[in-house]
Amino acid sequence: MDCVLRELALQIRLEQSGDIEAIMRLNQLAFERLDEAMLIAHLREHAQPFVSLVAEDDDGQIVGHILFTPATIHNPTGDVEGMGLAPMAVHPDHQLQGIGKQLIKAGINRMADMQIPYVIVLGHVDYYPRFGFVPASLRNIRCQWTGIPDEAFMILVLDPIAMQNVSGTAYYHPVFEEVM
Ligand SMILES: CC(C)(COP(=O)(O)OP(=O)(O)OC[C@H]1O[C@@H](n2cnc3c(N)ncnc32)[C@H](O)[C@@H]1OP(=O)(O)O)[C@@H](O)C(=O)NCCC(=O)NCCS
Repeated sequence: MDCVLRELALQIRLEQSGDIEAIMRLNQLAFERLDEAMLIAHLREHAQPFVSLVAEDDDGQIVGHILFTPATIHNPTGDVEGMGLAPMAVHPDHQLQGIGKQLIKAGINRMADMQIPYVIVLGHVDYYPRFGFVPASLRNIRCQWTGIPDEAFMILVLDPIAMQNVSGTAYYHPVFEEVM
């Protein structure tokens, strides 16, 4: 069997209205439940900015999706706005082919273009550090949710000057609390 992994030819682009059903199905398949699909639907309605990128293969199929929505760090000297990465999903038939990597890289580039100072993520500790995420606890930044492994809550700092001395509790968009 040919086990060589290759990067697929993909187009990474912003979601369009015609993609919404495919995004719902993809998230349901990848997470094997409806929760993330429902979360995305609510965030689409309430979160601004809502940066939703899809990976489209040569056949026009949506094989990956990543979402960024507003996050806030309650810093002692004032709130600092950034973005939260969640959720992200790659179609089970297409995982381990570098699609997630391409989505994250495209998303980070977009966040930098938008001059977003940081991105938080709660996720796989072996995966996100390769894109520059570090445990948020290193900066004394904590997750709004308790009981999660310390190293699973991570931050990518895009504007080190704006993030100098920023610490406190980080919050995803309120819709996360309502839906998840
Ligand atoms: C996590 C996910 C988005 C990764 O997408 P992908 O396209 O398969 O990932 P890539 O091909 O870019 O990267 C593959 C690498 O990620 C690692 N990886 C994939 N899933 C992982 C997991 N659950 N935990 C830790 N590492 C994981 C692989 O081991 C592989 O590592 P390697 O390069 O050292 O071999 C995808 O597996 C997925 O949709 N999973 C189900 C939904 C999910 O868990 N979403 C993330 C929520 S935080």
